Amino acid sequence: MKMKGSIGFLHLVVTTLFVAASAGNFYQDFEITWGDGRAKILENGQSLSLSLDKASGSGFRSKNEYMFAKIDMQLKLVPGNSAGTVTTYYLSSQGPSHDEIDFEFLGNLSGDPYTLHTNVFTQGKGNREQQFHLWFDPTNDFHTYSILWNSQSIIFSVDGIPIREFKNLESKGVDFPKKQPMRIYGSLWDAENWATRGGLVKTDWAQAPFIATYRNFNAQVCFWTSSGSSCSSNKSPSWLRESLDSNGLAKLHWAEKNYMIYNYCTDTKRFPQGPPSECLA
Ligand SMILES: *[C@@H]1O[C@H](CO)[C@@H](O)[C@H](O)[C@H]1NC(C)=O
Repeated sequence: MKMKGSIGFLHLVVTTLFVAASAGNFYQDFEITWGDGRAKILENGQSLSLSLDKASGSGFRSKNEYMFAKIDMQLKLVPGNSAGTVTTYYLSSQGPSHDEIDFEFLGNLSGDPYTLHTNVFTQGKGNREQQFHLWFDPTNDFHTYSILWNSQSIIFSVDGIPIREFKNLESKGVDFPKKQPMRIYGSLWDAENWATRGGLVKTDWAQAPFIATYRNFNAQVCFWTSSGSSCSSNKSPSWLRESLDSNGLAKLHWAEKNYMIYNYCTDTKRFPQGPPSECLA
């Protein structure tokens, strides 16, 4: 992914000195990409709301591409009967061999729990789903959903509790996302044919518009330059080397044991020849 000529040079000059960021502002850091007015930046850029009705959903993405990041975002999900709706918050690069790190929140009937769906794509290949229920009602209040992405590890956390770690196992022949910069995306869309029990429960459009809100975006990020990833005055922030310690692993095991409802690694029907190699490490 070498950049060529003057653009690469300019990029280098601009980015090598630049470590972002801190408390984000939605005007500054994001752009609304679709939804015809259904996505709105509110409170002077402190929050952003997405809306979905029968005609369309809506979405946004970060203005910048990042090469490694530690991101916190608070979300308050569609309340009430949200069956069929999917609220997303993810990182993705572009193209057919893209990398992607996904949080997707599958709505449900009133009183039934949301499913938090996670996935990791490398070189265009996903099929690494893990799903969880949450230990709180994600529609009552804002909760913090975090993605740590560095060259060793990807960690998904909910309110500071790690629920999933995808480790760099390149030494075992598993691809790891570290060659393509990614943007942050968010969207709210209708997935009634997929989300709720494989499409059995349809979206109740009488409840529309469905609204989800994002706020308190907070990120530490690095940028891609022609000489590799570049992070800041602080050339090597500690989160770039972070992975789960024993305390983090204990929390992860708590979440897995009590709240995990699907793990591709244990889906023997799907992988009769044995699970993918990252599951065995
Ligand atoms: C909805 O609620 C049911 C019943 O508790 C549950 O089995 C299911 O996993 C929930 N999530 C979705 C997306 O249907």
